[in-house]
Amino acid sequence: MGKVETWPGRGSFVLAAIGSAIGLGNVWRFPFIAYKYGGGAFILVYLVSLFIIGIPILILEFALGYHFKSSAPGALRRISSRWEWLGWFALLAGFGVVSYYVVVMGWAANYFVYSANLAWGENTESFFFNKVLNLSDSIFSIGSIRLNILLGLIVCWVWILLSIWKGPLTVGRVVYVTVTVPWLILIVFVIRGVTLPGAMEGLKYYLTPNFAQLRNPELWHAAFSQIFFTLTIGFGVMIAYAAFLPPKSDIVNNALLIALADALTAFIAGIAVFATLGYHAYMVGKPVSEVAKGGPSLAFVVYPMIINSLPGARLCGLLFFAMLLTLAVDSAFSLVEAISAGVTERFGWRRWKVNVGIMIVGILVGLIYTTSAGLYWLDVVDHFVTHLGLFSVALLQCIAAGYFYSLRTLRVSINEYSDIKLGKSWEYIIKYLVPPVSIFLLVCSLRKDIISPYGGYPRLATFLGGWLPIFLFVIISIVLARIAQKRDAGGFTP
Ligand code: TRP
Repeated sequence: MGKVETWPGRGSFVLAAIGSAIGLGNVWRFPFIAYKYGGGAFILVYLVSLFIIGIPILILEFALGYHFKSSAPGALRRISSRWEWLGWFALLAGFGVVSYYVVVMGWAANYFVYSANLAWGENTESFFFNKVLNLSDSIFSIGSIRLNILLGLIVCWVWILLSIWKGPLTVGRVVYVTVTVPWLILIVFVIRGVTLPGAMEGLKYYLTPNFAQLRNPELWHAAFSQIFFTLTIGFGVMIAYAAFLPPKSDIVNNALLIALADALTAFIAGIAVFATLGYHAYMVGKPVSEVAKGGPSLAFVVYPMIINSLPGARLCGLLFFAMLLTLAVDSAFSLVEAISAGVTERFGWRRWKVNVGIMIVGILVGLIYTTSAGLYWLDVVDHFVTHLGLFSVALLQCIAAGYFYSLRTLRVSINEYSDIKLGKSWEYIIKYLVPPVSIFLLVCSLRKDIISPYGGYPRLATFLGGWLPIFLFVIISIVLARIAQKRDAGGFTP
């Protein structure tokens, strides 16, 4: 058993959980997903998803960690030894995300340096694709490793490790800065964005709801996945963080606060991005829906455009990319924390060794994204890990807690010290709403992904970057759960 650690003071748990939730998911992923799925059409579904599944599942994860005082594998094992694998699977899915997440941080680190002389110039799109990524024309033309990105990747990993060197105690302090400063900068961007010519067209595209789209399962699937991604649900992170909570903590209040702060940040980042897209559309004389590619490159094309138009552009650029990095670092280290909490708890290894191990594997896996085809691989892995991996974890967690444990027990345990009491409807949502809805969405999109490979990539690519890793994660989690349980059996007699 690892030693039980607790948060220094209440504020630090909330801040650390907000820190984990708010990250590139809000400022980088949310705008491109919203753009890809048609702006206003997406926002509506996104908001509905936040309330009907995001917040209830976030509460469930907090409840699991808090009630069992355990990281994800440990907490799920307490439900039944047959569920422990799911905890490991969650951590592995999280690792899948972090493997490319830190690469995006590496891009941001490069842009931080470029800000010093606004190296991206006027054509920010061509700069990103040609100069920064040296993007090849197909997913199998890997080309060579881009050294600048590799360097960024390594620097970011080292930074992540240093931030958590001493455990949750240091985390508590780091996040005071990483959570508050970024908001100020985003607000400056919004003000500049909406005062650009053409901005209103962009905002119209972002905010006009399209009710017909509510019937599109693909949109719901993308919205659910984005909610999981952005709230850090389905990675075992929130379970681990809640396990460090002192007794008598107010879970419901915290969950609401975290979810709303997160959604608000994404929404504000969206305003900045879409206003700028409107401006760009106005300049090139095309409709907003056609001016950009709705993929992982969007942020790195659009934010530099806003920066170019600001007074004191260089300073703004430096501040913005510093902000992006500080937002991202606490999300990334929350996952490293969650993995090392799981491994130390179940295998008794030393925390620092686990952390260094994660970093090394992270850098090695990350190499593929630093090549000229890196953006394509990132796109594929992101799609599968979020749409299939996270999604399944969130779904199965609800089934495990709802059908193999007592949601009532969890609810009573949280309600004891919460100002806002959870009603029985929470149990219904977890037990009867989430599973059928998610299974339906999952089946719809699996069918689609099987019929025609995601994004028009060759089948072999979606197999290597998508199906295969998910399959391996399942096998590895089952093996890890087995080994941990053997160790329990041999280690001590109850
Ligand atoms: N929630 C984070 C964000 O919005 C992203 C995130 C979720 C994440 N889970 C993660 C990052 C696991 C790294 C590892 O940016």
